[in-house]
Amino acid sequence: MIHPEIEKILISQEEIATKIKEIASQINQTFNQEEIIVVCIMKGSLVFTADLIREITCPVVLDYMQVSSYGSGTSSSKFINVKRDLEESVEGKNVLIIEDIIDSGNTLYKLKELFDSKNAKKVQICTLLDKPSRRESNVQVDYCGFQIPDEFVVGYGLDYNQRYRSLPYVGILKRSVYEK
Ligand code: IMP
Ligand code: MG
Repeated sequence: MIHPEIEKILISQEEIATKIKEIASQINQTFNQEEIIVVCIMKGSLVFTADLIREITCPVVLDYMQVSSYGSGTSSSKFINVKRDLEESVEGKNVLIIEDIIDSGNTLYKLKELFDSKNAKKVQICTLLDKPSRRESNVQVDYCGFQIPDEFVVGYGLDYNQRYRSLPYVGILKRSVYEK
């Protein structure tokens, strides 16, 4: 059943589940049973991280960060503010940053800079969604679920004004919801 404020389902629950298995198998190959510090970027990546880590066979240490660059609108800013930092030290460790979506790329660009200064052994980036047409900062993405068109999407962790995160699919939000 589709939510009344969703224009259409872009990626179904089943498509997401299949893709997560593919991504996890690439991650398992890369890290080959070495321990990984998985960094969930809250709150958007919570659902994706929860599903992905259960397909990862390497030992996982889970941590999370909350950063803000978006406020309550639908366009990005060039600055990030770390609202909650890591508990784990990443020095000498493998780190896998999990994002929900890369839009301008500004958030991940700043995050990558931050991690590069912490002397991790290896830092990789995994995102569920990518809107390549909107890129402003050049970020290297190691694992990407789906490239999507320039539409504002919600569900499977992604929100608009903190709503719709619990939808099991990724859907395009009706413009009438945010163009009031
Ligand atoms: P970036 O810094 O522009 O790459 O912004 C990335 C962040 O913006 C994501 O982690 C999301 O929180 C948010 N964002 C970008 N596009 C969307 C969207 O279509 N729906 C919901 N959130 C989005
Ligand atoms: Mg986010």
